[in-house]
Amino acid sequence: LILIVDFGGQYNQLIARRVRESGVYSEVVSWRHAYDKILEKKPMGIIFTGGPNSVYAEGAPRLDAEIFNLGIPVLGICYGMQLMAHTLDGKVEKATQQEYGKIQLAIDASTGLFKDVDSGAQCWMSHFDFVSKVPEGFEVTARTENCPVAAMQNTEKKLYAVQFHAEVEHTPFGRKLISNFLYEVCGCSGDWNMGDFADQMIAAIAEKVGDKNVLCGLSGGVDSSVAATLVHKAVGNQLTCIFVDHGLLRKNEGDEVEKVFADEFHMNFIRVDAKARFMNRLRGVSDPETKRKIIGEEFIRVFEEEASKLSGIEYLVQGTVYPDVIESGTDTAEVIKSHHNVGGLPEDMQFSLIEPLRDLFKDEVRKVGLEIGVPEHIVWRQPFPGPGLAIRILGEITEEALHLVSESDAILRDEISKAGLDRDVWQYFTVLPNIRSVGVMGDERTYSHAIGIRAVTSIDGMTSDWARIPYEVLDKISSRIVNEVHGVNRILYDVTSKPPSTIEWE
Ligand code: XMP
Repeated sequence: LILIVDFGGQYNQLIARRVRESGVYSEVVSWRHAYDKILEKKPMGIIFTGGPNSVYAEGAPRLDAEIFNLGIPVLGICYGMQLMAHTLDGKVEKATQQEYGKIQLAIDASTGLFKDVDSGAQCWMSHFDFVSKVPEGFEVTARTENCPVAAMQNTEKKLYAVQFHAEVEHTPFGRKLISNFLYEVCGCSGDWNMGDFADQMIAAIAEKVGDKNVLCGLSGGVDSSVAATLVHKAVGNQLTCIFVDHGLLRKNEGDEVEKVFADEFHMNFIRVDAKARFMNRLRGVSDPETKRKIIGEEFIRVFEEEASKLSGIEYLVQGTVYPDVIESGTDTAEVIKSHHNVGGLPEDMQFSLIEPLRDLFKDEVRKVGLEIGVPEHIVWRQPFPGPGLAIRILGEITEEALHLVSESDAILRDEISKAGLDRDVWQYFTVLPNIRSVGVMGDERTYSHAIGIRAVTSIDGMTSDWARIPYEVLDKISSRIVNEVHGVNRILYDVTSKPPSTIEWE
């Protein structure tokens, strides 16, 4: 175990991720409880993260100096290095100018952290304060033009520190440095993997839940599916999943989700067929925000009604992943996202949360999912918005509109998959713009709907570019949709990026 002591920096989970990537198990702990945790867990090594404070400022995070006498190797990064220097009677000062960006290092060591690292490597710096005098027993191992101590070490006490951010991509040798710390300094073996994560998480959930009952709002998306499966493996039928089918899902999706979780995994699985309720409330509504609001509210109402029929539920599973945690801007465990597709939480119901994925990044969630047997089509499912097809139909949602969108979308997905593009294109779907145009089919004039194709590449959905799908594939999709979906005579391809567009049309 490597314990990562969190001082509130923005890259903390990235450090944890790098450690996991090196095949070593890690846990992140707040600096406030660090000393007790270290004594309790006896880690093989400790990493101090960066943080926004100045070590000499009042109220800045501090640590008991005893930590450095336990014989456990420590790596301090940025604030972590300054704190190490400050605590051990070195000197930290404020520079006149911030050092920021990609900076060239001059490295004076070729062992320890810097084994097999080029002496003139580049690193990513972001700091005002700097160590101007290293503590007794330390030597300087790297410098930059403006930073006299870019790295320092005390090999006898196994204390190491770097001013730069070794965890970010902009420090190209950062992975190497972290794995050097783990293997060379701490003596870790590097044989831990995501399967072990799953086993540890399952054991931890089983212990936490005991004989109590657990509820999960399952959407069929990657996150809630993996979270529910972990919990199911831990506590079996003490878990009940509620799947609200609002009738706005993609073709066959509700059945597929039910098949996996009810039939194959044998979970307590409640599928609520609420389509009529949603269609009722959406009748005559064409304003995008009103649609979203109605669907969000109705979703919570349905979930609440179902949940209230169950008794003795103490825990609620949420598929929160790390990027959600960053977005909510807090690290307290009790914050509940109002995001309706993970099961909005009724305010008067008091559950404790189980969030088995909150420290993981999306690709790590996928790895865990595959390890515990969640089928590939769910693990690799593209993002799908909570309001579903409703925000891909411009104007009022009618049965006909739903039919046109879900049938054309099924064809699009089929062809993208046949072309082997389903993992390259980040998200792809069809939309129904509220327009009809003239066409000719056989000898007959038609006056029918147009269907838009939206396909984008993206990393995280925040920005995106339109996907360059080969013309032949587009051609096939186009002719299949107009031939197979009655009522469509024209296909449009959306060639806008985000910004200025958004990915969804509403
Ligand atoms: P936009 O349209 O904002 O979409 O560019 C960015 C990403 O977010 C998805 N999206 C949603 N996901 N609930 C969700 O769970 C929503 O209400 C919602 N709206 C948009 C969208 O599919 C894309 O991946």
